Amino acid sequence: MALHGKPRSPVQNSTTSSTAAGSIIRWPSLYDVLVPVLTLGRARVFREGALDLARVSPGEHVLDVGCGTGQLALAAKRRVGTEGTVHDIDAGAEMVASARQKAARAGLEVTIAVAPAQALPFEDGAFDLVLCTLMMHHLPRDGRKQAIREMRRVLRPKGRLLILDLAQEKGFLASLNPIALVHGHKGMQTAREAEALMRDAGFTAVVAGRTANRAVGYALGTQMP
Ligand SMILES: C[S@@+](CC[C@H](N)C(=O)[O-])C[C@H]1O[C@@H](n2cnc3c(N)ncnc32)[C@H](O)[C@@H]1O
Repeated sequence: MALHGKPRSPVQNSTTSSTAAGSIIRWPSLYDVLVPVLTLGRARVFREGALDLARVSPGEHVLDVGCGTGQLALAAKRRVGTEGTVHDIDAGAEMVASARQKAARAGLEVTIAVAPAQALPFEDGAFDLVLCTLMMHHLPRDGRKQAIREMRRVLRPKGRLLILDLAQEKGFLASLNPIALVHGHKGMQTAREAEALMRDAGFTAVVAGRTANRAVGYALGTQMP
């Protein structure tokens, strides 16, 4: 599972930057304060629910794309154990630095790199499972397609991809969900879009649905050669 070297797409270096590569977050401390607010104090349930959906097992090799401050990767590492590996990438150097600090504090071995989802610095077929939570809506449409193609490339045959992203729900109560409030109703389609893009990219047995947080949907598919 060797790194090929430098990411192949340019990633801008400013504060919060919106580039062809995506909207990169550069404020990890504020992000960590916002997550419990946006998930109504259920961030842990959100993460463990994602790992349950993905059926993470001991010994697996896992990649988390758009890892943010790396909380999901720590939970994944606890599940895969010492025989398994967890790699994280994020296009934001500040997020990566924060994720590395957390892994070191937790005493967990997670390999974390700055890289864009659209040009993953890993060999073909390196992973059993790719996770991607709340990152897709940070990419332009072309970038989403490219990222899903890349995630497929780095999965071994029969490897799984789990994408969690924004899902629109009708009704007054749904409009008060903090995630919907922050992102606005118009953008709340990326989970459904990811499902379609996964099918187009050749994933099979794609299943989709809602998570415990109704503003977040998922798509889970299998890489078939
Ligand atoms: C909303 S956060 C989600 C973080 C984490 N997955 C979670 O569930 O908390 C989106 C992350 O995607 C990252 N990102 C944006 N564009 C990216 C790209 N092109 N490649 C990789 N990561 C990107 C941002 O820097 C940010 O850390």
